[in-house]
Amino acid sequence: MLNIIRKSSILLPITLISCVMTKNNFNPLKNPASYQKEYNESLENNNAFWLKQTSILDWIQPPTIANGSDFSKSTDVKWFEDGKLNACYNCVDRHAQKTPHKTAIIFEADQPGKTIHITYRELYEKVCQFSGVLKALGVKKGDVVTLYLPTIPETIYAMLACTRLGAIHSVVFAGFSATALASRIVQAKPRLIITTETNSRGGKTFSLKKNVYEALKENLLNKNNTVEKVLLVGQSLENKNTDSVSINIKEFNFESLSKLTQPVYDYAEMCATDPLFILHTSGSAGIPRGIVHSTGGYLVYVALTHKFVFDLQENDVYFCTADIGWITGHSYGVYGPFANGATTVLFQGTPTYPDASRFWKIIDENKVTIFYTAPTALRSLRSLGDDFVNHASLESLRILASVGEAIDPSTWQWFFEKIGKSHCPIMDTWWQTESGGVLICPLLKQPQKPGCAAKPFFGIEPRILHEVGGNPEEKEALWIKQSWPGLAMGVWGDQQCFKQSYSSENFYNSGDGAKIDEDGDIWVLGRIDDVLNVSGHRMSSAELERAVISHPAVSEACVVGYPHDIKGQGIFVFAIPRNNVSIQSEHLCEGIKQNIRKEIGPIATPDVILLVSDLPKTRSGKIVRRILRKIVSKDFENLGDTTTLGNPSCIETIIMQVLNKNK
Ligand code: WTA
Repeated sequence: MLNIIRKSSILLPITLISCVMTKNNFNPLKNPASYQKEYNESLENNNAFWLKQTSILDWIQPPTIANGSDFSKSTDVKWFEDGKLNACYNCVDRHAQKTPHKTAIIFEADQPGKTIHITYRELYEKVCQFSGVLKALGVKKGDVVTLYLPTIPETIYAMLACTRLGAIHSVVFAGFSATALASRIVQAKPRLIITTETNSRGGKTFSLKKNVYEALKENLLNKNNTVEKVLLVGQSLENKNTDSVSINIKEFNFESLSKLTQPVYDYAEMCATDPLFILHTSGSAGIPRGIVHSTGGYLVYVALTHKFVFDLQENDVYFCTADIGWITGHSYGVYGPFANGATTVLFQGTPTYPDASRFWKIIDENKVTIFYTAPTALRSLRSLGDDFVNHASLESLRILASVGEAIDPSTWQWFFEKIGKSHCPIMDTWWQTESGGVLICPLLKQPQKPGCAAKPFFGIEPRILHEVGGNPEEKEALWIKQSWPGLAMGVWGDQQCFKQSYSSENFYNSGDGAKIDEDGDIWVLGRIDDVLNVSGHRMSSAELERAVISHPAVSEACVVGYPHDIKGQGIFVFAIPRNNVSIQSEHLCEGIKQNIRKEIGPIATPDVILLVSDLPKTRSGKIVRRILRKIVSKDFENLGDTTTLGNPSCIETIIMQVLNKNK
């Protein structure tokens, strides 16, 4: 039975303990000198600090306990454990009551000229209607619902409708292949998938539904199917797909169902520690992990960071370019801005369609004041020439921000001068899927240092330490002492897996290298584990290698990242062909490429594939990735000690091949 005890109607008075944004007087950034004082206090009285910050939300029952986690005893992450709330109420209802006519979403479709404004009142109606459809399909508190959807308003309605009912959403990035979707379905075990038939991106139209049915076929799920129903949103295509019948799945159309169902104006009372959503990401292991975020801690953290990192003001128009399928889309495309009642631009398309002026036109047409994007997008736009920017005014902009990787000083300068007209500060925000929200960023600090993430957010205590038992040649790692409310609760179905991220001394290991300068500012230097960061997307070497080795003509493979002008890191594949298989090199390389696209998706398409006869290995037969990383970065002088290898002679051959490949 649906455990809904609270009723909400925008015609009724507010029934919750209301602590709306204006009542949260914490604003140390108005006076930059007060940062240090407030920061020190946030560490000294950490629990009191966080309890005070919970007033950024409305609670059914305000929490009296802040941090209930202690890494030295267990890896349970527990924040505000006696608090009760509903995330959807906080993101929608309270603003529909207070500012019903304020625009919540400005939707910019892939095709220019189709801007749609959705007010908080309309958002409320849409979300309640969506909740009604989900309820009719049997969705209830604690259920997992998979969303394989693009960056469109319906995805937001679906996410918020899940949280209204207390269901846990698991959004899968729409650029992932059917195989990647299937592995996430197997882990999350949903009974319902929401998808769409028509998606348009970069001027191309394609069907996500096709991939869903491909994923639901037995061979991809290995008989682990839990899915009973598929809900289609958006326009339907004429030619009906009969796949659903053949695999015994019931297919529903949102439009038709919404005419037959009543909106759900109630919302579920949730414990702060109930899961809000699952989002898969890549770690060092070959299989992506479903990171679980909590309802209370996560929402407090993203609301607070969204307000202070971007210096959010009442009339700001905020534009985050991230796809909704990634953590930035979740935290700073949906939950942060809506919890704060902000006006946010939602963009379905790509930065270069119809041409490279698209972002700048969206900014000018909607008078965007805060612009949050990724260094890879900026590098790609910059490489196409300044003409596209020179025609734009961009005078509405006040704050710029970037995420996904360190922003290199030359791109930073271009962003600052060309886009920010030399007066907008740049928030270089460092954080991770696991961290829920921003952990380190300049926080309006002056003067700014290009490429430096700089300062920890309140309540966050970073430390730069040698990895325990790590390779001494590697950089020092960035750890975070203790827990914070945005920290994920664990990995869906595999809490043990999350354990590896903590040390017994109460530290969380980020997996990033970093250094600290004489002013105490932090510079993040990129991953030091076997995780690649390609165009701001996380991929593990092991995940890519599995896809390469799945080609029948490949016996062994190693995948490493190398410096790439636009993507930050490119994907370099080393593959050893099987002896007894005769296949032309070009065909094998093409086959490997296709395998990766099929297993993961086009975002993982390799930049270089090199067929080799041997790879550097330890005497026990383990491939030494560190040496290959140095070779592809042309750092031949620093290969380290190679005498302990079982087969040191292969190195020279590989270097020759790499040099020839680049000619
Ligand atoms: C990298 C994205 C340097 C980092 C929010 C991290 C960054 C990984 C920055 C997380 C930044 C993200 N400077 N590196 N400002 N932002 N990273 O989980 O390596 O997709 O560990 O979360 O991206 O990627 P994820």
